[in-house]
Amino acid sequence: MTLAPRPRRSLLFVPAANARALEKSVSLAADGLIYDLEDSAAPQEKDAARERLRDHLAASRFPGERIVRINPLDSSHGTEDLLMARGAGVDAILLPKVETVAGLRQVADALAETDAPPSLRLWAMVETPRGILNVAELAAAAPRCRLDALVVGPNDIALSTGIEPGQGRAELLPWLMQIVLAAKAHGLSVLDGVYADFRDIAGYEAECAAGRRMGFDGKTLIHPAQIAPANAAFGPSPEAVAGAERVVAAFADPSNEGKGVIQIDGRMVERLHLEQARQLLAVQAAITATDHRRTEGSSRP
Ligand code: COA
Ligand code: MG
Repeated sequence: MTLAPRPRRSLLFVPAANARALEKSVSLAADGLIYDLEDSAAPQEKDAARERLRDHLAASRFPGERIVRINPLDSSHGTEDLLMARGAGVDAILLPKVETVAGLRQVADALAETDAPPSLRLWAMVETPRGILNVAELAAAAPRCRLDALVVGPNDIALSTGIEPGQGRAELLPWLMQIVLAAKAHGLSVLDGVYADFRDIAGYEAECAAGRRMGFDGKTLIHPAQIAPANAAFGPSPEAVAGAERVVAAFADPSNEGKGVIQIDGRMVERLHLEQARQLLAVQAAITATDHRRTEGSSRP
């Protein structure tokens, strides 16, 4: 059985230390919200941020995915964060600075011991030299570790390696492509890193377009203004949807029954394109369904 595809075009980090951001988050059109207890919360704020987030998650609804980024388990806040997230009814827990399968297993085992439902997934930030070197092993361990997605962390990569990526991120590309490849080899989602300069929309759109071409499923974001461009860049375009519908219709035509390869407007189309077209339409249907839930939610009194 293949699960229905989940659109993961836009995943917004929402600092749990910021009450206004929490309140605003549920009205935003991101495919997912990543509530952050790690980098965006100062050490003295972390306990209060966790308690505020616990209350927020219990009291609010969101039509897309809800994810909580916890502090590392070997830090003083990690275990309490994990317990809170485990009981909060979220879709996934995002682990920072994942480096080894053993580290991933430790969290998966802790969840299994507390009877966390299998629907609660783990996502892993790949953002250190060891994490990047081990990414193939991490992705291969996914079925044993409820791992569902890999997330690039460019700021920590820069910090831990000393590279200084410019526009175009040429310095990062070999590592990014390694992360994408590992995810694809094991059927995981893979999300591009954040773009810090949230007022530079043109530069951001260029990075979204590049991320899409590289095979990322979507992008992690820091500001509401970044949501719409990510949804546009990583979602199927109207032309792509129309093209996919034509491919499906052409293969369904009785005159093409049993054929492995056909032509549409002088272009060769094979059965593998039919599969691709069906996937694209399934993603589009999932996006439409989420948009629908969002409209329904916002029209409620
Ligand atoms: N989630 C939810 N709401 C957000 C938001 C976010 N990530 N970033 C900004 N907003 C809200 C603001 O609260 C503000 O709401 P309001 O106008 O209704 O009061 C509105 O969007 C406009 O924000 P703006 O004034 O342009 O930005 P800011 O100065 O409030 O915040 C940042 C700028 C960078 C501090 C903020 O975007 C942020 O904290 N981003 C996430 C950081 C993070 O999580 N980092 C860790 C992962 S890398
Ligand atoms: Mg980080």
